[in-house]
Amino acid sequence: MEIIIQPSAQEVGIIAARMVAQIIRKKPYAVLGLPTGSTPLVMYKELIRMHREEKLDFSEVITFNLDEYVGISPEHPCSYNYYMYTNFFSSVNIKPHNINIPDGRARDIPKFCTEFERRIVEAGRIDLQILGIGADGHIGFNEPTSSLASRTRIKTLMPQTRQDNARFFPSLDEVPQHSLTMGIGTIMEAKQCLLMAAGEKKAEAIAKTVEGPITAIVPASALQFHQHTTVLIDEAAAGKLARREYYTKTFDEKPDWQHL
Ligand code: F6R
Repeated sequence: MEIIIQPSAQEVGIIAARMVAQIIRKKPYAVLGLPTGSTPLVMYKELIRMHREEKLDFSEVITFNLDEYVGISPEHPCSYNYYMYTNFFSSVNIKPHNINIPDGRARDIPKFCTEFERRIVEAGRIDLQILGIGADGHIGFNEPTSSLASRTRIKTLMPQTRQDNARFFPSLDEVPQHSLTMGIGTIMEAKQCLLMAAGEKKAEAIAKTVEGPITAIVPASALQFHQHTTVLIDEAAAGKLARREYYTKTFDEKPDWQHL
């Protein structure tokens, strides 16, 4: 794992956008795995800026979103579909048929999930999977005790996750109980992963993910098995890392050709 510690959430978002841009410029038909939530908002803003000012081209890019709530329509203002169009897709030149978001209203959920997995394989697999992390260590909506080999499926949300996400809904009661999410096994098949986190609330989950044992209780810890994962965090999220100085030194002393 490569650990990059930046002063604030702003720098985290900018560096994440640069990583995405680097991949798209090398491979215009890159396949991206995308998260929602508060953490990637700066990254999406910066990618939109790069599209407008630096002609970053999304016309051949294919995307797969990590997750979606079950039972709410794509037009619902709290759906992840709505989030993605509002915060990103509507402002870049991505083609609608290249966008894949789990359908929280699929009639046959197991069939939909199998088809979603098939589409990822058909697209040539995910080049860069971008991830946020929950305070309980979830990635996507793979809550603690999720199988580390899991595939796209329905998951029941933990009470804490519903509570954390209630800020996007009119009330806690309206936060769905279930989600569709890529599995940890699905995420692990991405060619590269980028886990982003900012704020003190994430410090414990980050320390367990990077320095703790690999365990289904901390789903993100599975990334220790991934051959190419970058953990990009701000100072506050790095607050509980025991080997922080080593990570900073490694980043500062990178050879020029490895820099972003
Ligand atoms: C959302 C997702 C979740 C979030 C996580 C952190 O698509 O996959 O795992 O990344 O819950 O959310 P924020 O960034 O809002 O703290």
